[in-house]
Amino acid sequence: MNYPSYVRLVDVGPRDGLQNEKTPVPAAIKVELVQRLQAAGLTEIEVTSFVSPKWVPQMADAASVMAGIQRQPGVRYSVLTPNLQGYQAAVLTQPDEIVVFGAASEAFSQKNINCSIEESIERFRPVVQAAVAAGIAVRGAISCAVGCPYEGDIAPERVEMVARLMSGIGVQHVGVADTIGVGTPLKVQRALDAALKHYALDQVSGHFHDTYGMALANTLASLELGIWNFDTSVAGLGGCPYAKGATGNVATEDVVYMLHGMGIETGIDLDQLIDAGKFISDFLGRKPHSRAANALLAKRAG
Ligand code: HMG
Ligand code: MG
Repeated sequence: MNYPSYVRLVDVGPRDGLQNEKTPVPAAIKVELVQRLQAAGLTEIEVTSFVSPKWVPQMADAASVMAGIQRQPGVRYSVLTPNLQGYQAAVLTQPDEIVVFGAASEAFSQKNINCSIEESIERFRPVVQAAVAAGIAVRGAISCAVGCPYEGDIAPERVEMVARLMSGIGVQHVGVADTIGVGTPLKVQRALDAALKHYALDQVSGHFHDTYGMALANTLASLELGIWNFDTSVAGLGGCPYAKGATGNVATEDVVYMLHGMGIETGIDLDQLIDAGKFISDFLGRKPHSRAANALLAKRAG
């Protein structure tokens, strides 16, 4: 098996990770988390979302968080922008990349962003145009790429359709997202293959929630296809408020442990990453949702 020699991880903890937390997390804590992630060697961090505060109150402080971080050269900071209003607020904070988020499921599109898939593409079109004109990179997320909380199984053809539509409006990179973590390796490979019909290998990433404990297996299955970009979340934080029952993303610590064990480079210092995960987990009053982090923390304590 010819695995990639380097893997790039986007830590989505500050955004996907915290958006679902019920109690407000102060902006200063979010900023500190970003600082700790970059100190651990993360070069891609999804910081926040410029969405409606009525829909996702936890992200209402997006501008303050972006203003608070001390930027480090070589690190790219991304933010979610569902529409032009979000983009216009986001651009003032100088993100390196914006993320438009669509879905392969009509029902999820309606629940999450209050419009159909077709309508979402029309909303994204001017956002993508403006970002590209401003030299800001554009990523697209394809939610419910294998399964949907409302529609059940999702056919790869749906993923291919959204990838085609996103490619048509100039989205430069797509993330194939298993929003509710129901995917298994072959289903995930089929969803990735569908996106690969419209995007090159370097322009497709995996975004796997770990609800059913399949995310590491799905990551390995993606590596087998040559996929080398993944979204992961420190301490396994995460979940979407509009995908009931879904738990966090695969923990960055677990993915880094697996990759380093396979001789694949990430540029990340696992010990410092574990400290970052412990910091936010302590704040939230629980243990990190990462087997590797808990094992290594227990070893340290012993
Ligand atoms: P809408 O209600 O249809 O929007 O929501 P609207 O254009 O009709 O505007 C209604 C109100 O929202 C107005 O305010 C607007 O100003 C305001 P009012 O006049 O009532 O006071 N508004 C905004 N405020 C701030 N920022 C904005 C914005 N847009 C409108 N950008 C909308 C449409 C998209 C805004 C809403 O549905 C929304 O915010 N949804 C976000 C849901 C979300 O953040 N979900 C989680 C992220 S996606 C995810 O987690 C999945 C992912 O991880 C991949 C995976 O795992 O699948 C990426
Ligand atoms: Mg997600």
